[in-house]
Amino acid sequence: MSIAAPPLDRNVVMRDGLRADFPGVGDWHYLDTAATAQKPQAVIDATVRAMGADYATVHRGVYQRSADMTLAFEAARRRVARFIHADENEIVFVRGATEAINLVANTWGQANIAAGDRILLSVLEHHSNIVPWQMLAERTGAVIDVCPLTGDGRIDLDAAAKILTPAHKLVALAHVSNVMGSVLDVPRAAALAHGVGAKLLIDGCQAAPRMALDMAALGADFYTFSAHKLYGPTGIGVLWARADILAAMPPWQGGGAMIDRVSFAGTTYAPPPQRFEAGTPAIVEVIGLAAAIDYVEAIGMETIAHHEAELVRQCRAELSAMNSVRLLGPEDSAGIVSFTVEGVHPHDVGTILDEGGVAVRAGHHCAQPLMDHLGLPATVRASFGIYNDGGDIAALVRGLDRVRRIFG
Ligand SMILES: Cc1ncc(COP(=O)(O)O)c(C=O)c1O
Repeated sequence: MSIAAPPLDRNVVMRDGLRADFPGVGDWHYLDTAATAQKPQAVIDATVRAMGADYATVHRGVYQRSADMTLAFEAARRRVARFIHADENEIVFVRGATEAINLVANTWGQANIAAGDRILLSVLEHHSNIVPWQMLAERTGAVIDVCPLTGDGRIDLDAAAKILTPAHKLVALAHVSNVMGSVLDVPRAAALAHGVGAKLLIDGCQAAPRMALDMAALGADFYTFSAHKLYGPTGIGVLWARADILAAMPPWQGGGAMIDRVSFAGTTYAPPPQRFEAGTPAIVEVIGLAAAIDYVEAIGMETIAHHEAELVRQCRAELSAMNSVRLLGPEDSAGIVSFTVEGVHPHDVGTILDEGGVAVRAGHHCAQPLMDHLGLPATVRASFGIYNDGGDIAALVRGLDRVRRIFG
């Protein structure tokens, strides 16, 4: 039997009917927002309009529709800039966080990291914030160091302070762990990195949908997130980098739109951000991302953070009352609760939960080094979004009771 957690604070539960904004949610207990968020109708409508009645190319057309679409596209860039309190020229549209990190590794990394230089990552990084750096290290002869975690699953910045040396050129860390929801103290990480002359890249994939972001206050040099986790479309994401860093970065992919002048004698490149946006961009997706930002900001990022904190508190209280459940990560995780059930493989837990209409992620969460560290092949992860409420947690608890009955 589980002990009922205190009811959700009504003041932080989303406005009535919010769930109805999401045609993909309905009665489903969708607890996999950390993988990808469901889309509100406002985002769907914006993308349908952009792909239908408003559709045209950007930056090139001499006709009115294209000029209008170009204005909307660049307004979306300003919208993203406002969302993270940055300058519009610091916003590079990419396919997603994975592409952003590869872009930085292949441009800034290739130009600034040499044999013997060091890169500091952490145990809990997503593969997309590990593999591009391994590939860069293989090409350049750089060395990767791994920052350990605290007992409750945070990146241990005291340990980072001891590891860092002037040989470190880059520190690349997750703002919020996609497995345990642990939140990084980014200003402190920035101070540590800058203290040895290194740059700081922050993987903000799980932070952007869950908290207000201010690039100046965070103090990182690069920040990235994917739109699809922020209630926007797939295939679009953001790389933010400080203007002076972007200006000094060589281009990565060559093609249309990123040039100043092309001739067979040689090519000159456009200034940032266009220098990093070769080819026809993801026009429809960019419009959808701006609509998603409008949607979450109408609710308020502080409200969303508060709502998810409340859901995490309630979920952890319910699950910790179940003897067979082992909770991972810190108490104050952001929107994400990972756990295991004694004697039951996470995939079996996920399958039984699915039979009860509860969708969780079960697996290594693209964080195999973290699984190795935890000594687990996989975990079950319940991750919350703005459409979740206490009913979803109750369904999760009912499903886990069923797991226990089936597996004895
Ligand atoms: C922390 C973190 N970093 C990076 C990524 C990669 O994002 P994408 O697959 O959208 O490029 C994810 C996605 O799961 C993530 O959770």
